[in-house]
Amino acid sequence: MKTVIISNRLPVKIIEDNNEYTFIPSEGGLATGLGDVYKNGNSIWIGWPGIEVPEERQQEVIEKLAKLNLYPVFLTQDEINLYYEGFSNEVLWPVFHYLVTYAHYEQSYWDCYKSVNDKFAKAALQVLSETDKIWIQDYQLLLLSGILRKKIPHSTIGFFQHIPFPSYEIFRLIPWRDELLNGMLGADLIGFHTYDDVRHFLSTTTRLLPVNSSANVLSSSDRQVVVEAFPMGIDFDKFSNLTGQDEVQKEIEDFRTGKENMKVILSIDRLDYSKGILERLKAIELLLQIHPEYIGKFELYMIVVPSRDTVPQYRDLREQIDQFVGNLNARYRSVNWIPINYFYRSYPIEVLSALYATADICLVTPMRDGMNLVSKEYVASRNNNDGVLILSEMAGASKELTDALIVNPNNLGDIMEAIVVALKMPLEEQQTRMKAMRDIAEKFNVKHWVNNFILRLNEVKDSQNSLLTK
Ligand code: F6P
Repeated sequence: MKTVIISNRLPVKIIEDNNEYTFIPSEGGLATGLGDVYKNGNSIWIGWPGIEVPEERQQEVIEKLAKLNLYPVFLTQDEINLYYEGFSNEVLWPVFHYLVTYAHYEQSYWDCYKSVNDKFAKAALQVLSETDKIWIQDYQLLLLSGILRKKIPHSTIGFFQHIPFPSYEIFRLIPWRDELLNGMLGADLIGFHTYDDVRHFLSTTTRLLPVNSSANVLSSSDRQVVVEAFPMGIDFDKFSNLTGQDEVQKEIEDFRTGKENMKVILSIDRLDYSKGILERLKAIELLLQIHPEYIGKFELYMIVVPSRDTVPQYRDLREQIDQFVGNLNARYRSVNWIPINYFYRSYPIEVLSALYATADICLVTPMRDGMNLVSKEYVASRNNNDGVLILSEMAGASKELTDALIVNPNNLGDIMEAIVVALKMPLEEQQTRMKAMRDIAEKFNVKHWVNNFILRLNEVKDSQNSLLTK
């Protein structure tokens, strides 16, 4: 019996250079969080390798990935445009992050979303046996549980959504809302990061479909589905140990040289309008206007990892960030100082680790975020218990990391004040807060998350089976 993880993206993606394919780690919380864990158990992972692979090269990719227990689902360029960029990232992503005006309800997106979910089901059925545990990940595959349930009715299916689930008033806007919910209800266990997401899902489902809920169990005429919160963690030890590696120590030293009296503020995100990048920059601008005494006293290191840049809103956002940073730096910089060091690229984990270990303050201010693992990675990298985390109350992580300075990301004054508090925070207070957050991130790490979910999935299935035999 094995665990079959299915997600839109595999934990590695193909990069093509001179007709050569190489595989590098994928970005995003799901891949970084689960990317190592699946290797430890008896698991395989099914998903898209990140680019269109021409038919004549698919066998080569299949063979290379098989060595890593990965099974590719190949998407055509049309499917990438309509299912991934279209329905997933121009309908579900904006609506689930409450940016409803960004949504384009195109029938062609929906049609393709359905057919690609079918394609994933076909791929899964080729490698699945009936006793396997199936663990489907995220919003790109909301229909998959339902499709697989029809094909293999007694299978054990867990579904976990990594992004927020919106309130009923928002979700009901989607033209295909009932089909989406019915698809999700094919699972035995549905997980979200927070209890708020669970609440929204339960109330949405009972208002739109003929199902009843009793506590966190949804019942229809023939099935029961359990809905629970499983806050995702990170590989705490990996991040904590990385800072001691020679390579990382060297990066830290290089980075710190010449900045002895400078406070370093760090932000790391995928390019995304849900991450509050522009708002964060505006808060920095406000700080420079209202507190000129901090000019020359801090530097923001802002890493933006390229993502979905073929989707128009992401392209626009990138231009806006470029412009804002350019203007702000031009206005405030001096010969020896620049307020914002902006990098639009991805970095290896060793560099990120050095940045986490160096930064006096980490600024994580998404407008809405399922969990946000960057906040936990920062905390895990602070082996001396110093440093200050400023964290948006709209991130799932704020429910756990309550010793961060919690801010409303829409309130620029609030963010600015928090930066001032962080810049002045005595070491002792930093250590008390950081220690408490590290304890939580260490205890509720990613292994705990995986074990907890799988354990609960087994329990739910066992109790369903015993009901059936009564
Ligand atoms: O963590 C949320 C998530 O949407 C994942 O499902 C996804 O893999 C990741 O962010 C990165 O997004 P994308 O796969 O679109 O690059």
